[in-house]
Amino acid sequence: MATPHISASEGQFAATCLLPGDPLRAKYIAETFLTDVECVTAVRNMLGYTGYFQGQRISVMGSGMGMPSCAIYATELVRYYGVQRLVRVGSCGAVQKELKLNDVLVANSASTDSNMNKVRFGGFDFAACASPRLVQSVLNFADQRRKALAVGQVFSTDSFYDSPHDQVERLQRMGVLAVEMEAAALYGIAASYQVQALTMLTVSDHLLTGEQLPSEARQNGFTEMVEFTLSALTG
Ligand code: ADE
Repeated sequence: MATPHISASEGQFAATCLLPGDPLRAKYIAETFLTDVECVTAVRNMLGYTGYFQGQRISVMGSGMGMPSCAIYATELVRYYGVQRLVRVGSCGAVQKELKLNDVLVANSASTDSNMNKVRFGGFDFAACASPRLVQSVLNFADQRRKALAVGQVFSTDSFYDSPHDQVERLQRMGVLAVEMEAAALYGIAASYQVQALTMLTVSDHLLTGEQLPSEARQNGFTEMVEFTLSALTG
């Protein structure tokens, strides 16, 4: 039962699927954290895997960059493969002074300059929100581990480059924590298919200071966040 973008057979995805943007990060997560791993799809090299984390069946698949790409994979995973929990794990650019490089952020809602949710919602502004239950799970687990998490809204943009010159200031004023490129569409899809979604992000760059994490530190922070997220969701 392949779909246009996923070649897995029926039943090859778990109910929970982690979605990093980069397919090589999906491979890395599968090889680092999962046991009895099977590569279940590789159409366009957008790798997807299913295995076990602490005895629980988990999948991980690349989503690509940006909302149109993420929406294709998320929709096919839910519609054709029965995925019930879509969990984006990615990076973001911070727009608040209190946030530091490598901080971990839970995107409980996402504003956007994309039109995708408006189209889905008949022209109105949809309040794109993470699933409260998943947010609660990661917050409870953070308390147990005494791990600091920032919780708040992000801005999901279509444009990595050439944003309006006053955008960062406007986002900062409205209390947006960070900019990324997928959460709003992911939350719209989850709502329309009545499944759960969550976005966990590490701060890879700071849009107020221009600071950026070197790639090794970026990888280490990402790995820690993925371990935390998997433990929180399966604990
Ligand atoms: N992901 C990480 N940093 C970002 C930024 N500055 N803008 C959009 N997406 C990002």
